[in-house]
Amino acid sequence: MLEQDIERIFFSAEEIDKRLEEMAGEINRDYAGKELMLISVLRGSFVFMADLTRKITLPCTVDFLAVSSYGKGTTSSGQVQITKDLSDDIEGKDILVVEDILDSGNTLSYLMKLLRARHPASIRLCTLLDKPERRVVPVEVDYVGFTIPDEFVVGYGLDYAEKYRNLPYIGILKPSVYQHA
Ligand code: PRP
Repeated sequence: MLEQDIERIFFSAEEIDKRLEEMAGEINRDYAGKELMLISVLRGSFVFMADLTRKITLPCTVDFLAVSSYGKGTTSSGQVQITKDLSDDIEGKDILVVEDILDSGNTLSYLMKLLRARHPASIRLCTLLDKPERRVVPVEVDYVGFTIPDEFVVGYGLDYAEKYRNLPYIGILKPSVYQHA
């Protein structure tokens, strides 16, 4: 059972849902009268993206891209590669990039620059979690779900060794899980 590996729940499913209502409310107000294109950065953001999108009341489209950070142990390197690009053109569109976590900033700093070069009408960043203590590269972020300390979290899309993404809450793993890895 996955649950046995969790030491502590950081944000329950209910807390996440409540915060997403607030975030979506803000986004709905900010983009009133516009059409929004939501871009999910795979894989971690797929759960957040799905829940947030269903709270957006504006006309919107969705697209997905995947990136990999090379040289990665527990932190990403500055070298980012797009492993799956968007299906649609973003030129002239109002873009909201949806991420699960902002850590060193390497991934998002690179990605936002790359997407800006495709000339969207506007581009903003929305992240469920932000770990400001870990930042190496500055990243301008427009919507933040929760600011968290430097702890390794899993669940709600976030993984450890590709597992735990399916937990409905965000939690911290027991150290024994790492030790036995
Ligand atoms: C996470 C997250 C961001 C990146 C943030 O992805 O989704 O893309 O790390 O870290 P940074 O600010 O240090 O660049 P991860 O590489 O874990 O891949 P995943 O989304 O497939 O889980």
